[in-house]
Amino acid sequence: MTQEQWTDVDAYFTSRLVPSDEALDAALRACEAAGLPSINVAPNQGKLLRLFAEIQGARRILEIGTLGGYSTIWLARALPEDGRLVTLEADPAHAEVARANLSHAGLDGVTEVRVGPALDSLPVLAAELGEEGNGADPFDLVFIDADKGNNPHYLEWSLKLTRPGSVIIGDNVARGGAVADADTDDPVIVGTRRMIELMGANPRLSATAVQTVGSKGYDGFVLARVLP
Ligand code: SAH
Ligand code: DHB
Ligand code: MG
Repeated sequence: MTQEQWTDVDAYFTSRLVPSDEALDAALRACEAAGLPSINVAPNQGKLLRLFAEIQGARRILEIGTLGGYSTIWLARALPEDGRLVTLEADPAHAEVARANLSHAGLDGVTEVRVGPALDSLPVLAAELGEEGNGADPFDLVFIDADKGNNPHYLEWSLKLTRPGSVIIGDNVARGGAVADADTDDPVIVGTRRMIELMGANPRLSATAVQTVGSKGYDGFVLARVLP
């Protein structure tokens, strides 16, 4: 099996199941024009995220790792009118591209891009959750897709920011198969393995992971549900 086949099959699925869309296409063009790396989810993966959020009935979504807001648009479109998505991005230049893309997609009203290292923003979100009176509701779905070395920390914060029944999704967990290497000292793989192992060991979570191939190569998702 080759990358060319994976790309062809993705093109077929996407052509039949994932209608092209002006705002999403424009977002990808804007990311490219701004020189952002093309490490956004593929269109059929974005649609999968949207479907997960819709099936979940998510009203509050947290994304860790915005880039140009491509996955953000997919997720935000699952929200009801009074829903809310917060997305965390360390790089101000990425955040600026994302804000413009979200605005162009008509999602200004439901999305908020917070700039700074996610490990700085997450405690702020947790404090908002606990505020007397105007306390924010917990998140129904979290998408973890930033610096993979911090994945264990992102999982711990996600557990603080969610409720029984919430869903936590992690991107890029297979990494061309590298995740199976127990001896690596690559922080990306170490962080991802630790997150997977924490998920498996946590009695509050029910989780699985699947490998994927497609236009973005060979990778995978992990999906965890906070048990009721
Ligand atoms: N979710 C996006 C892709 C995100 S790529 C999509 O699929 O469309 C990962 C992003 O995480 C990059 O934009 C990178 O700048 C950001 N990032 C890296 N380290 C971070 C950190 N410590 N806190 C927040 N964002 C970070
Ligand atoms: C990388 C990050 C991602 O979120 C992704 O989907 C693919 C690649 C990266 O940092 O290389
Ligand atoms: Mg990713």
